[in-house]
Amino acid sequence: MIKEYLTYDDVQILPKYSEIKHRIDCNTLTNVTKSWELAIPIVSSPMDTVTEVDMAQEMNEFGGLGIIHRFLSIEEQASQIGRVTLGPSAAAIGVTGDFIERAQELVKQGCKILCIDVAHGHHKLVKESIRRIKNEVNGKVDLLVGNIATGESARDLCEWGADGLRIGIGGGSLCSTRIQTGVGVPMVSSILSCVAVADGYDVPCMADGGIRNIGDVCKGLGAGADTVMLGSLLSGTKESPGLITKQGVWPNEVLQKKYRGSASRDSKLDRGESKHVEGYSTTVPYKGKVIRIISDITDGLKSSMSYVGAKNIEEFHSKCELIKVTNAGVVEAKPHLL
Ligand code: XMP
Repeated sequence: MIKEYLTYDDVQILPKYSEIKHRIDCNTLTNVTKSWELAIPIVSSPMDTVTEVDMAQEMNEFGGLGIIHRFLSIEEQASQIGRVTLGPSAAAIGVTGDFIERAQELVKQGCKILCIDVAHGHHKLVKESIRRIKNEVNGKVDLLVGNIATGESARDLCEWGADGLRIGIGGGSLCSTRIQTGVGVPMVSSILSCVAVADGYDVPCMADGGIRNIGDVCKGLGAGADTVMLGSLLSGTKESPGLITKQGVWPNEVLQKKYRGSASRDSKLDRGESKHVEGYSTTVPYKGKVIRIISDITDGLKSSMSYVGAKNIEEFHSKCELIKVTNAGVVEAKPHLL
């Protein structure tokens, strides 16, 4: 029998009895990995058009986390990690080539969380890389590992020693994995399956990909994720890497920045690769400072918490009841007067 799996639009959060007087009474403190807490559950994606030192620094400043992408030389990535001055710093690595040397250099520069950043995290190479990093890299570092999408993969990664799980296959806004390969799992069911297992190991889960608005952030956390990872929502901001370009002529000019998938042709060609393209690249309107977006998300999340009567993220997890809606419910959820 084919099972039914749901994503963000398929569900809504049931309101519950609340004693929260004001949303400022809601506390968004959470864990991103076993040892590291964040004041807000927002993490910026390790993509080359989303997170380098400026984004990482800004995310830390506001209580979230930025993970510096791995498509840089070891020296450049380590130097950027060294320049992040607040909180934990975090950086992405792969599982082949120079990844041990890279991990060593990053940890030496103060990196507290290494994100093992591969498309298919339920893989032998990931198991071996966790073992090697734990044995060969000097210094304490937590391992955030992904991406995965099933309870079985969550169990294996927890057993292999992951300190945090990154959940989401095929849901990213620029992702073409599901079109190219037919593989993927709708996000809400993916989160529910992984969290059900990871909770038993006390390993925090991050919902990554497909989050288009604040409501999706709330649904991802309501499904049990401890943090959300954002790409498109944070792209095009002042702090994202890349130049601002102008389209059109004043007074009709529009400012834009590039946002590209890590496996897009554009990104791969820059790294001298051309095969296995599984992503797109695009331009997005320039959005200004990222703080505006982070504070809107935090406000919306606190409001959602007050709708279910949850003072903190742990209560949000236990009180949040997701209901499945029909197509009519999806239409009703969006502005529909016109
Ligand atoms: P959003 O929806 O926030 O998603 O823009 C960001 C996440 O998308 C993933 N990602 C990719 N997935 N091909 C993919 O299949 C790609 O080229 C690609 N680039 C990024 C990644 O998990 C990111 O955090």
